[in-house]
Amino acid sequence: MTQEWWRDAVIYQVYPRSFADANGDGMGDLPGITEKMPYLGALGVDAIWLSPFMRSPMRDAGYDVADYCDVDPLFGTLADFDDLVAAATQHGIKLIVDLVPNHSSSEHEFFKAALAAGPGSPERDLYVFKDGLGPEGNEPPTDWLSHFEGIAWTRVTEADGTPGQWYLHLFDPSQPDWNWENPKVHEYFESVLRFWLDRGVGGFRVDVAHALFKDQTFPSWPHHPHRGNVDEAGNRAPQFDRDELHPLYRRWREILDEYEGDRMMVAEASVTPDRLWRYLRADEMHEGFNFEYMKAPFEAEAMKRAIDLGFENNAPVGAPNSWVLSNHDAIRHATKMGYPAGTTFGEGILPSDPQPDADLGLRRARAATLFMHGLPGAVYVYQGEELGLPEHTTLAGEFRQDPSFERSGGTRAGRDGCRVPLPWQASAPYYGFSSGGSWLPQPESFAAHAADVEAAAPDSTLNLYRSTFALRKQRGLGVGTHAWIDGLPAGVLGYVNNGVAVIVNTTGEAQALPAPFTDAEVLLASVAVEGGHLAADSAAWLAA
Ligand code: NOJ
Repeated sequence: MTQEWWRDAVIYQVYPRSFADANGDGMGDLPGITEKMPYLGALGVDAIWLSPFMRSPMRDAGYDVADYCDVDPLFGTLADFDDLVAAATQHGIKLIVDLVPNHSSSEHEFFKAALAAGPGSPERDLYVFKDGLGPEGNEPPTDWLSHFEGIAWTRVTEADGTPGQWYLHLFDPSQPDWNWENPKVHEYFESVLRFWLDRGVGGFRVDVAHALFKDQTFPSWPHHPHRGNVDEAGNRAPQFDRDELHPLYRRWREILDEYEGDRMMVAEASVTPDRLWRYLRADEMHEGFNFEYMKAPFEAEAMKRAIDLGFENNAPVGAPNSWVLSNHDAIRHATKMGYPAGTTFGEGILPSDPQPDADLGLRRARAATLFMHGLPGAVYVYQGEELGLPEHTTLAGEFRQDPSFERSGGTRAGRDGCRVPLPWQASAPYYGFSSGGSWLPQPESFAAHAADVEAAAPDSTLNLYRSTFALRKQRGLGVGTHAWIDGLPAGVLGYVNNGVAVIVNTTGEAQALPAPFTDAEVLLASVAVEGGHLAADSAAWLAA
């Protein structure tokens, strides 16, 4: 692995509750991940990004942290974590952990102390408490909205039983926002960083890295956070993407740099590409997810625009792109791409929504992935996408656990459909995820995608991912260059990187490859290339 290994890394996201369950309680756990390390080694990943496994009441699947320096008993113990790091290291895999600095859980001891200590106390100042508006303080301090629907403030009852102050939560009421104006919060998080760095982690994925600091004048912002960080008049959101973030990330970078082994940070920042580079300056974060490619439809011009934007904006600060197509917050791309062009999506899919064309979705997903994996930069893979796994689109409401489902009265599907436990064996109970249960039911369609079935089929998506990662590494594509190929038919897009021509056909018909690619050696293909034609909705890597 090179110095600055993160520049071209393949980083595999493990969502711990749904990866593998070693103790049979129906919930994935850390020993389950350790057991599957040979699978991840054979897949060829450089690092694992592990979604939160810290102590939590699990109101937002662990993104509500009650103790940042301990493992939740659902997932195991700190000793299990150490075993996991050791197993990963044996396979040459680094472990990146999720850091959730915008908010804690309301079960965090500091929040409980803040409630008990009362208005004006130093304990309360660790969070964003304010008096309400109106003569009785009955109105929330601002009109800000929560990501999970409803107002972003909750009123507390003071120790004497009277209605009291309000606290801010950009997410669920069980996720109070930290007050980053308070130096004690900075000190606390520095100790959290060091705790995990000392335990040997390769770095951090920083949750909602564009939040944390809030405009202290608390102006009105009536827009839903999903709408973006700028309104029609050009005003910037008071709670996102503020300049105060950057000195903080510089400080964190200094801490990471004190450690051996090139530790890294990747920002989950919902900002436009023309702002993302600000997080990726040489003394700040190493990477930030490029969500533009993920959001682009399977359409040549849109894909090209997203890629160009990524390069244009990151190049000046020398940061690699972090390409991604799926994660635990989004509809799996094998499903999303099974809808007609122009379809708009919410967070998930309800049984009552139109259902996708699964074959078309998978075919396009393989093409979009193969096309993306030839690009210079790091690639992020969400567990199960290497199996071509679809979203669970018919999950009944009674099983859904995402807070946005409940808070929206069941009108928003939420994100459970992409979080369903993985199928490892087609004919085992719970498809081999667990011997005793599955915290979300798995759909029957998972059988055909089970890892054992895919491993045995030469043309499977699993084998396509394996070959892609191997060739990507062998040809140095992750640290290569990118030059668009001119003169391709409409709807066909291609580039050359280190002697490999990467070409995708986004049209529904086979397209003839022009010279000099007509007879070029085929290195990899999502659908076999025959007679110098790239099949409909497919991609290939050719010797250039
Ligand atoms: C982004 C995480 O990816 C998501 O799952 C979570 O709900 C929010 N941040 C709040 O932490």
